Amino acid sequence: MGDTDKDDASFSVPTVAAQAVLVKSASMPDNATTVIGPDLNQNHSLKDLLNSYSRIGFQATSVGQAINVINQMRNWRLSDDPLLPDETDNYKLPTVRSSTKCKIFLGYTSNLVSSGLREIFRFLVQHSLVDVVVTTAGGVEEDFIKCLGPTYVGDFNLPGAQLREKGINRIGNLLVPNENYCKFEDWVLPILDRLLEEQKSEGIIWSPSKIIHRLGKEIDNPDSIYYWAYKNNIPVYCPALTDGSLGDMIYFHSYKNPGLIIDIVSDIRSINNQAVFAKKTGVIILGGGIVKHHICNANLMRNGADYAVYINTGQEFDGSDSGARPDEAVSWGKIRMTAEPVKVYADATIVFPLIVAETFAKEIHN
Ligand SMILES: NC(=O)c1ccc[n+]([C@@H]2O[C@H](COP(=O)([O-])OP(=O)(O)OC[C@H]3O[C@@H](n4cnc5c(N)ncnc54)[C@H](O)[C@@H]3O)[C@@H](O)[C@H]2O)c1
Repeated sequence: MGDTDKDDASFSVPTVAAQAVLVKSASMPDNATTVIGPDLNQNHSLKDLLNSYSRIGFQATSVGQAINVINQMRNWRLSDDPLLPDETDNYKLPTVRSSTKCKIFLGYTSNLVSSGLREIFRFLVQHSLVDVVVTTAGGVEEDFIKCLGPTYVGDFNLPGAQLREKGINRIGNLLVPNENYCKFEDWVLPILDRLLEEQKSEGIIWSPSKIIHRLGKEIDNPDSIYYWAYKNNIPVYCPALTDGSLGDMIYFHSYKNPGLIIDIVSDIRSINNQAVFAKKTGVIILGGGIVKHHICNANLMRNGADYAVYINTGQEFDGSDSGARPDEAVSWGKIRMTAEPVKVYADATIVFPLIVAETFAKEIHN
């Protein structure tokens, strides 16, 4: 008789299978969170819906955690922490302690300014809800270009060759007519002339952040993120300012009116000191690449950020910094070991409006 026949003859579950499948559970802790989604039989406000996210699971739970971490950054005051023995006199004053907030670094990639997240960034900067901004060159110029001409909703599938013939540029499913870049050229080249003139006559050394501050003043348009950054004196860092249309303009300008110098040394000193001299820091980083690393690296100078929220689509299997989870930054001292960082794996255009609605926007509307 073979093994199969032996099994057929038996009426009890084989012991090995029973032991494998019916492993006895350890009891769950009393405070364990159960999974439950929103009951849409009830009338839900956006707030109710977002409150339900942390118990839905997967990335919805991460969105809920990101909301919690951002609210922790917003609510922290130095008076929450014990007085350190080596504290300077100024920071011993109760009034100073209760008004000293966490310094919030916001980073976003260029495409997000091409998208409608631009209006969310403008809102955050307009109301001084963030303290330091880092973006890439497209994230600077696309804001100004939108003041000069609109960006349109298109389609991911529009053929490149046909768009090229029509002088229309595609960013994902967004479209920007070439004409907008021509208007940008007409606007920015005379400003570059003036920057060069001031460099020569007044000895001003222009850095990327100083140029963005000046462009924010010149645009004089409340739709612009950088208009408000100028008004509210919020520094905007962009170490690779030349990698975009602005770089094209600087290239042309270097032939028409040569001599403009852009200094990146003063900016690295400035952003690193933003972190070094802060009592607490929080980072909110949308996307990867330069914006992610530049903010994290500045926070290395203070032994790590206290709060961190990443929102990006990057994966870590290729070893890229874009895809690295917060725990990798902990290993480098860019996020503190005591932090409870969150990475939301999502297109930022979907989740960031929800997160801001449930965090910063409440501060303005309450
Ligand atoms: N509109 C534009 O995108 C534009 C315009 C001009 C110049 N550029 C230049 O291209 C270069 C590369 O751009 P970059 O560094 O800003 O970022 P990127 O577009 O290269 O993105 C970096 C990473 O961020 C993540 N990411 C991007 N979009 C995301 C989203 N919607 N949601 C979640 N995660 C997202 C992805 O992991 C991506 O690999 C920069 O030097 C920039 O100045 C871009």
